[in-house]
Amino acid sequence: MSDTVIEVEGLVKKYGDFTAVDGINFTVNAGEVFSLLGPNGAGKTTTVEIMECLRTLTGGRVHILGMDVTKDALKIKNRIGVLPQDFNAFELLTVKENIEYFGGMFDRQLPADDLIKAMDLTEKRDEYFKNLSGGLKQRTGVAISMVNDPEIIFLDEPTTGLDPRARRDVWAVVKGLRERGKTVILTTHYMEEAEVLSDRLGIIDHGKFIALGTPRQIIDTHGTGSRCIISNCDNSCSTTLKEQWPTLESKGGDIIIRLENKNALPEIIYALDRSGGNYDQIQVTRPTLEDVFLALTGKKLATEEPEPEIGKKKRSKRRGD
Ligand SMILES: Nc1ncnc2c1ncn2[C@@H]1O[C@H](COP(=O)(O)OP(=O)(O)OP(=O)(O)O)[C@@H](O)[C@H]1O
Ligand SMILES: [Mg+2]
Repeated sequence: MSDTVIEVEGLVKKYGDFTAVDGINFTVNAGEVFSLLGPNGAGKTTTVEIMECLRTLTGGRVHILGMDVTKDALKIKNRIGVLPQDFNAFELLTVKENIEYFGGMFDRQLPADDLIKAMDLTEKRDEYFKNLSGGLKQRTGVAISMVNDPEIIFLDEPTTGLDPRARRDVWAVVKGLRERGKTVILTTHYMEEAEVLSDRLGIIDHGKFIALGTPRQIIDTHGTGSRCIISNCDNSCSTTLKEQWPTLESKGGDIIIRLENKNALPEIIYALDRSGGNYDQIQVTRPTLEDVFLALTGKKLATEEPEPEIGKKKRSKRRGD
């Protein structure tokens, strides 16, 4: 059985009268990638920064590696690594100098060159931080977060503001951390990212979990079933389909039918054949975490690719307790 390295029970955080985190519960096992997925202001950073001993909690209990965040902050900080949401390093230090600088804060530190190699930054080792692209800055940030050889690494929105290619590079880094046996806590508002990278995740909205489990479990529990998309249906196809599936959706020339059971797909194909009409192709899509979020909250999470502006964070925010 796996060891539990994080236990969060009834966690509450209030800022004055405002409740930012409203009684959430979860555990994380050693070696897992666990994500907090949710829109802006959902309470992700507040939750992770309480686990990182950077903010105080209002209620509940949080244990990291068996230690209480309210009592053992220093010991916890020595055994975790953190990439904060608005991460920045010293502009006029090189990649290697930055890693060594931050390493100097810990009793135990890994050699900078090993981290540079692990993060595939060898070519940029002697480059000033300010000259790096957004993706390379984030990889330097992950290298810094690993400098004390932590057991748990917190990555708060490591891909926000990156272009699609740099995002994929950061995904490879997260997968690499998992392969090294690290426990990773990731926050994101990109559902695809959470689906691809997480062993388990919690979907958070207004400080509460609205779903918790593996991506598969969440989709199976809350998803609305697979969909069949028939593209470029002519009139006879759509008339025949509408007779049998009166609630189908039409988008342009495409018809979308929810597959309620395993017979539905052969029935659709038979109906199309019977209609004698024309269509381009039939495609079956599984529900995604985005569909789950929409079904549970009635609103959309971020679906669009981030702006291709490299190295810029999207906003600033009040920080601290
Ligand atoms: N120091 C603070 N003082 C007052 N309110 C705060 C403070 N920090 C966060 N909040 C509020 O608490 C809520 C949760 O914020 P938090 O930063 O945890 O969300 P988040 O999920 O990380 O959002 P984002 O995706 O934008 O980073 C927001 O409404 C935010 O405005
Ligand atoms: Mg945040």
